Amino acid sequence: MTALGSVQGSPHTRLLGVGSYRPSRIVPNSEVIEAIDSSDEWIQQRSGIKQRRWATDEETVEMMSIEASRGAIEEAGIQPEQIDAVVVATVTHLLQTPALAPMLAHKLGTQRAAAFDISAACAGFCHGIALGSDMVRAGSARHVLAIGVERLSDITNPLDRGTAFIFADGAGAAVIGPSDEPGIGPVVWGSDGEQYDLITQTEDWRYAIQCASPHMPTLAMQGNQVFRWAAFEMAKIAQQALDRAGVSVDDLDVFVPHQANMRITDAMARAMKLPDHVKIARDIAEQGNTSAASIPLALDRMREDGEAKSGDIALFIAFGAGLAYAAQVVVVP
Ligand code: UT7
Repeated sequence: MTALGSVQGSPHTRLLGVGSYRPSRIVPNSEVIEAIDSSDEWIQQRSGIKQRRWATDEETVEMMSIEASRGAIEEAGIQPEQIDAVVVATVTHLLQTPALAPMLAHKLGTQRAAAFDISAACAGFCHGIALGSDMVRAGSARHVLAIGVERLSDITNPLDRGTAFIFADGAGAAVIGPSDEPGIGPVVWGSDGEQYDLITQTEDWRYAIQCASPHMPTLAMQGNQVFRWAAFEMAKIAQQALDRAGVSVDDLDVFVPHQANMRITDAMARAMKLPDHVKIARDIAEQGNTSAASIPLALDRMREDGEAKSGDIALFIAFGAGLAYAAQVVVVP
């Protein structure tokens, strides 16, 4: 039998660069409350959100992705043509096909990089990091660009009390590449499809068209059930990611959970007994819940504010519709 040739990648990987893009339009709570009979006080108390950013017409998923990616590529110190694969996590590229990634790979100047989208909602960025890291280790790519981008304002019903104040827009990106030392820990990921209907599109496209619906489908969330799942179950996943990376909470410098709700972040930090020295991402207050973009946006904010610095050990955990989740320990670039 003829033996097939095989490739081997780098034994270790790391994040070489991270970039992000925040839309220009700031939307304070006062702008969303009237339509949903709410108050600034309630929103801040129940979610920690003071304001969010919604994209303008010009700030498309494509434009925001390119801006975030340029920052990540520049920090990585590589040329676009060195990127072998582009993985885009999004649920708001509103074309069923083609994926967003090939267009981005072209416009960023890669040399026909492999390019595809993944749909893991709020957990998408951590899925992208896991895939990228495994691809570099397996040898199918040397540099992978993982992007998380959302324009959730496009698919949010401004009259829905349970979602109108939460969701927001933005983009983040990371370049994953080879490393001499481990810089991305093993992923702990999974799904709970039994709870598939807790966060969904209100109806599928075909049904909406058949019913001649005057509105496009939007997001529907059984918030309280999602909250309880996230607050109680996700700390266990985060702990498993630490265990698999061989680090303890005492070794951690930075905790960057998906920015879903400030109270979920606090509940996880309490359950994990994070020591006081661990800096916790709280970008949701200013940014809202940007789904797949929230972790790179939050990390970038911490780097800008000096709360996270190069070489720090950070824990990522992301969770959302599916229900799907993923967590890993990384070294901050
Ligand atoms: O990113 C993907 C994953 N998503 C998440 O992790 C989000 C998880 N869920 C949440 O963050 C929270 O469930 C929300 C912030 C969305 C809602 O907070 P909650 O504490 O779970 O609210 P609730 O739905 O249990 O409602 C509590 C009360 C109710 O009133 P009564 O029955 O106690 O009188 C609601 O009618 O708050 C009322 N309420 C509101 N009041 C003012 C619900 N929505 C609103 C609102 N403004 N927008």
